[in-house]
Amino acid sequence: MDEATDTDGAAEAASDKTADPIDDRASGDFDFFSPAFRTDPHAEYERMRTECPIAHATEPFDWYAATTEATVKQIIRKPKLWSSKHGPGLAYSGGGVLVSVDPPQHTSDRRLVQQAFNADALLALEPDIRTLVDHEIDTFVDRGEGDLQELLGTPVPLIVIAWLLGLDPDYCREIRPRADAVIARHADKQSAKESTSDPNRVDEVTYFGEMIGTRRQMLAAGEELPDDTLTALLTAELDGRVLTDADVLGFMMFLFIAGSQTTTQLIGNMVWRLLQNPEQMELLRNDRSLIPHAVEESLRYDAPVHGLFRTNNEETELEGVTLPADSKVMCTFFAANMDPAAWDDPHTFDITRDLDTLKKHWAFGKGIHLCMGAPLSRVEGAVALEAILDRLPNLRLTGEPTMISAPVLHGVEKLPVAWDAPQAD
Ligand code: HEM
Repeated sequence: MDEATDTDGAAEAASDKTADPIDDRASGDFDFFSPAFRTDPHAEYERMRTECPIAHATEPFDWYAATTEATVKQIIRKPKLWSSKHGPGLAYSGGGVLVSVDPPQHTSDRRLVQQAFNADALLALEPDIRTLVDHEIDTFVDRGEGDLQELLGTPVPLIVIAWLLGLDPDYCREIRPRADAVIARHADKQSAKESTSDPNRVDEVTYFGEMIGTRRQMLAAGEELPDDTLTALLTAELDGRVLTDADVLGFMMFLFIAGSQTTTQLIGNMVWRLLQNPEQMELLRNDRSLIPHAVEESLRYDAPVHGLFRTNNEETELEGVTLPADSKVMCTFFAANMDPAAWDDPHTFDITRDLDTLKKHWAFGKGIHLCMGAPLSRVEGAVALEAILDRLPNLRLTGEPTMISAPVLHGVEKLPVAWDAPQAD
């Protein structure tokens, strides 16, 4: 993991300029909520980075977007100055776990979750994921056409996160649309302004709460507990700290939301770009060792999360723009992955790029909040791609994909495709 140094944060933050958020260098007529950002973020971020690398928006309040790799790095590496305490979304939201807290609570949260969620445990799921993907393909392969996101991209990550957390996969399928609504709220300008409460959320809270209660009873009765994240969270202990039921609930809700839709985007975006670039698909068909490259190039070229926010603890200057304390600044991981100062020919989708270089992309964030599910997503992406190559021959697009509407997420929501269905004997 990237180390996060924060020693020079205060010095860099000190600025003797008068705070003026409507600085010339921060102007620009960008509407992050416009359809253009959904349909062609490559062009929009290019324009944004070139014209105003710290873009200033005024809806629903003053906020900023950092689009050069150097600035994103500068923010992410200084967690003392650039806090997560107001949440990773546009809204100023307090409380929460992991992505919404700073050290020392973040350090402790992360170590607790790590007890259940370490890379070895995640990678050990690979054989089960292969079986799952094969099973899902069995259910639709004869059809010869359909929406690949509905058929494969959505169920696989959802069922895997259900296994990990000890949830009922059918229940997860049912509540999934509401989880999407939670993601949408992270960057929705109206919600950011109003801080509404969602009546549907009660269902999940009740369901997760009941599961926690049942496990607690099993624990108290000395019964054998399933080997999953819920058990690990309930029994985790760090420096004498154990998690309360409210803590466990917070972790479960967060992991469910963080772990499914993002990986769905990875699968859909990756297949979409390969279909758009048939010569790349051909390279892959002729050389399966390029599968990990295709996964990483997809994450670089189409980061599933546009970016996440930090808030500065004191007045700070970035790229010549003075930001008052407590400004919301979006680290646009998507744009950092497209910065020509960091990448050769960034707008070309090329799965032959060097793998170690590719893995330096920003899709999983970096620093102390680096994504804990990255090894799992990589496995899911690679296993899904391999099965698609094996079992859906002559895969082709049959229409224009629909793009996902949640502003914080990027990529295809529906991917209409056809393939040569197996001949009946
Ligand atoms: C392609 C799929 C995924 C993408 C693009 C993604 C992206 C991210 C990003 C950008 C962050 C950084 C947050 C920040 O800097 O504020 C993050 C954090 C996190 N992700 Fe993921 N994620 C993915 C899959 C997953 C999965 C499958 C899981 C769980 C099974 C997961 C669990 C987490 C956790 C626990 C954190 C919080 C780390 C912390 O705050 O210390 N993610 N993810």
